[in-house]
Amino acid sequence: METVVSGIRSTGNLHLGNYYGALRNFIKMQEENKCFFFIADYHSLTTHPDPKILHGNVKNVLTEYLAAGIDPDISTIYIQSDVPEVCELYLLLNMHAYMGELAKTVSFKEKARKQPENVNAGLLTYPTLMAADILMHNADKVPVGKDQEQHLEMTRKFARRFNNFYGVEYFKEPIAYNFGGELIKIPGLDGSGKMGKSEGNCIYLFDEPKVIEKKVKRALTDEGPQSPNSPKPDCIENLFTILRVVSTEEIVKHFDDKWNACEIRYGDLKKQLAEDIIAVTSPIRDRILDIQDNEAYLHKVVKEGTEKARESARKTLREVREIMGFKGF
Ligand code: TYM
Repeated sequence: METVVSGIRSTGNLHLGNYYGALRNFIKMQEENKCFFFIADYHSLTTHPDPKILHGNVKNVLTEYLAAGIDPDISTIYIQSDVPEVCELYLLLNMHAYMGELAKTVSFKEKARKQPENVNAGLLTYPTLMAADILMHNADKVPVGKDQEQHLEMTRKFARRFNNFYGVEYFKEPIAYNFGGELIKIPGLDGSGKMGKSEGNCIYLFDEPKVIEKKVKRALTDEGPQSPNSPKPDCIENLFTILRVVSTEEIVKHFDDKWNACEIRYGDLKKQLAEDIIAVTSPIRDRILDIQDNEAYLHKVVKEGTEKARESARKTLREVREIMGFKGF
């Protein structure tokens, strides 16, 4: 049985990008693998969240994990900061992570540009904290969206470097994974490349159907195809990208044919898109409403998950310390 590890930051509600890039894979993979799914609350500290809001965000992700179908009886669900072993492995891995390679990471350069007043060391070492999460359970596969690909390459590099330096075959080299093949990037509805919380262009799993209809209606479009079989501009391609994940092949083909024949009506496309998104999100929304106030259940899930995660983490750390020469007296 392979080991699967992944997490989502506690920065708010989950959106369609989180769902198709990560969460849907979690659910599909849990039957056949040993799975660890956590809430990356340490990672969310890089943007200095208000302490009062942080806890609520952790609860949101936990509730949405369960509502979307992660089964705590077969998967281990935990909050990153409940497993202090992560911090120690992070420290140990940082000794073998170099300033130059960390500073070259695309996500670091982007964040440094977006928040020049707060280019903290946590941002720089974000990939080593991620590697600690993943290597802690010696993962084989890490279900993530396209934007995390480079972080996974770095995790593999850190694992390889550790093995080479200490002359062991200890860590596996985990791969970024998507069930359907290629890693996914869900675009925004505003013509931008990526749906993201900081982009303010998200459709959330918890959005009411009416809100989703409104957001889709407002999606950026152009004046329509000018000649048969012309390439689609980015804003239209984005709508089709989302349609491809939420709809059937027949529906996608129908609108593709309409586009190619210059007969497409964006109103129809948007109506269909909204309907198919709502078919995915509304059962999840209903389950969120069902469990979000069930504190006893949420506590039980986290308590049991933390115990299982820490057991796995303690074992790794004991072995890593031994390999690195911490023998104890
Ligand atoms: P975060 O919270 O930014 O994103 C969580 C997951 O959602 C995916 N995702 C997307 N996928 C497709 N299209 C999008 N528009 C989109 N937006 C987000 C992300 O690729 C990710 O899989 N660093 C991670 C959290 C993390 C982690 C880990 C993941 C911390 N430690 C260890 C895996 C393993 C992150 O930024 O999550």
